Amino acid sequence: MNQTQVGIRRPTEADTAAVHAFLAGLSTSTQYQRFFTGLGSVSPSLVRELIAVRPRQHVVLAVRGAEVVGHAMAATNSAGAVELGVVVAEEYRNRGLASRLIRTLVEQAAAAGADRLQLDVLCENDLVLDWIRRRLPDTVFERDGNTLTGYAPLHPAMVAASPAA
Ligand SMILES: CC(C)(COP(=O)(O)OP(=O)(O)OC[C@H]1O[C@@H](n2cnc3c(N)ncnc32)[C@H](O)[C@@H]1OP(=O)(O)O)[C@@H](O)C(=O)NCCC(=O)NCCS
Repeated sequence: MNQTQVGIRRPTEADTAAVHAFLAGLSTSTQYQRFFTGLGSVSPSLVRELIAVRPRQHVVLAVRGAEVVGHAMAATNSAGAVELGVVVAEEYRNRGLASRLIRTLVEQAAAAGADRLQLDVLCENDLVLDWIRRRLPDTVFERDGNTLTGYAPLHPAMVAASPAA
């Protein structure tokens, strides 16, 4: 991989400063779409949590050279469902990065035995809701205030490469 290509890999502690810069550089609106809150000054504990890889928590980064341009996390909750969260830098969107990040995570989660996904999305996040409906048509949504939670079987279509990816 050269310095101009975006690669997908697991984080290490050496990524701490780059992940902090990535989060701090997101617009308030993007922070809200991903974390359901603005992040203010990004806390070191949040950064530590977002790069922590554990048996029930998989994390991948999209990186261009030393810069982090995307982050995705899959955490298995107490009900056994895999909760997915993903965010890509504004200037790197619509070129398949989130799809690559999620494909990598879902493969890891499936290999670890997961068979259900849980997706928390703001009601106003039409792009992501449309994406889920296209890719995971069996998703069942429940509304709680401003948030929709989608429950879906872990579906092979989600890990299938789209022509653009
Ligand atoms: C949602 C998000 C991660 C997508 O990142 P991305 O790298 O642009 O996504 P991709 O390029 O892989 O595209 C994913 C899908 O959305 C579609 N898409 C992406 N940008 C689009 C746009 N501007 N208009 C229409 N469709 C679009 C793609 O066609 C693709 O659909 P497909 O799989 O059916 O082909 C990014 O917009 C983001 O960071 N949003 C804020 C955080 C957020 O909402 N996270 C989700 C809740 S955890």
